[in-house]
Amino acid sequence: MFNSPLDGAEIRKDFPIFAKTMRGGGRLVYLDSGATSQKPRSVLDAERYFYENHNAAVHRGSHLLAEEASEAYEGARAIVAGFLSANIDEIIFTKSATEGINLIAYSFGNSAPSSQFALKPGDRIVVSEMEHHANLIPWQQLAKRTGAELVWFPITLEGRLDTSALDSLINERAKVVAITHQSNVLGTINPLTQIVDRAHAVGSVVVLDACQSVPHFGIDVKTLGVDFLVFSGHKALGPTGIGVLWGRADLLEEMEPFLTGGSMIESVTMSDATWASVPRKFEAGVPNMAGAVGLGAALTYLDKLGMDNVEAHERALTEYALKKFTELNGVTIIGPKDSAMRGSVLSFTIDGIHPHDAGQVLDQYGIAVRTGHHCAWPLMRKFGIAGTTRASFYIYNDSADIDALIDGIAATQKYFKV
Ligand code: ALA
Repeated sequence: MFNSPLDGAEIRKDFPIFAKTMRGGGRLVYLDSGATSQKPRSVLDAERYFYENHNAAVHRGSHLLAEEASEAYEGARAIVAGFLSANIDEIIFTKSATEGINLIAYSFGNSAPSSQFALKPGDRIVVSEMEHHANLIPWQQLAKRTGAELVWFPITLEGRLDTSALDSLINERAKVVAITHQSNVLGTINPLTQIVDRAHAVGSVVVLDACQSVPHFGIDVKTLGVDFLVFSGHKALGPTGIGVLWGRADLLEEMEPFLTGGSMIESVTMSDATWASVPRKFEAGVPNMAGAVGLGAALTYLDKLGMDNVEAHERALTEYALKKFTELNGVTIIGPKDSAMRGSVLSFTIDGIHPHDAGQVLDQYGIAVRTGHHCAWPLMRKFGIAGTTRASFYIYNDSADIDALIDGIAATQKYFKV
């Protein structure tokens, strides 16, 4: 049984790419939204409309177009703030979630020794074994530059965060806890409350990688209680090249800038400069204005669907898929096998078939999945595998897509005679 408040086939009509005919002559079965989502017409139109009607460098010119461009850009910031229940000035546009995490790490690394953000030998940065490389490598590098120690939550064989040593891991020396909201490989949703409570009790900040959560369920930054959150526009129906960093205003005000240059200054002499207030302190250079406007249109589209409906739709898809997978032989799900505290990302291995080979056969049926290590190499090592095949679901998918995947896996097994 498949029961959802949304109709994936109807939603696909808003997305031009679904008119494409795929290899094999069939329709597109897009199961790779964890990597990037498809874009509705309203997003494509918003970007084009911006370039055709308002294009000018924001926050600079005194002419009509510059005024309109600034309004459109700041309007997009207001939409993002509304979507996250955040204050407008706490929203910083970046080029990606990766850049957002690097911004925090480099800003902390640039801090004066007396700053609350400065790290020194003996301090701790806490991550987890299920982090995407984007939320691991910037912290590895910061640890190397400052002498701080990098430690991590292990994960259980079921693909859940192992919080049994929470208090000793997030000890009094912890300065940063950087954790994913939902694993891009396992689909696991992490128990934030206990992590945030413990981190704050010892005076650590919490950085949340929300790339796989903001597009998929309602987020209220105040309820989450974290200090920083990043997500990428392109996974949330928006354009590529635009990401968001949300941070608590009091922290952002105290932090050093990451990139310096035009537009982020208050005043400049030949030998020194002072910084503009937040968010502009963190937006050096002419920003991705059309991208921000496109992201605004994307979040407006999601808002119209209702994030509760989006979440319910994805839960229905996930439950349907988990049940269907039990009918397959020789297929192992890597990650939680029940739908509690998990999102719509489903990684699996097929006995005797390399994920890349599986991906190629599925492609013959118009089925797009991601294969490989998913930028989470340590996680692959943990499971002793080279990679997985990953199906990830979104608003434009329906049960027919999952049926196609199941048939495609069976056809792959037949092809390789396993
Ligand atoms: N981070 C993206 C993924 O998980 C690209 O596929």
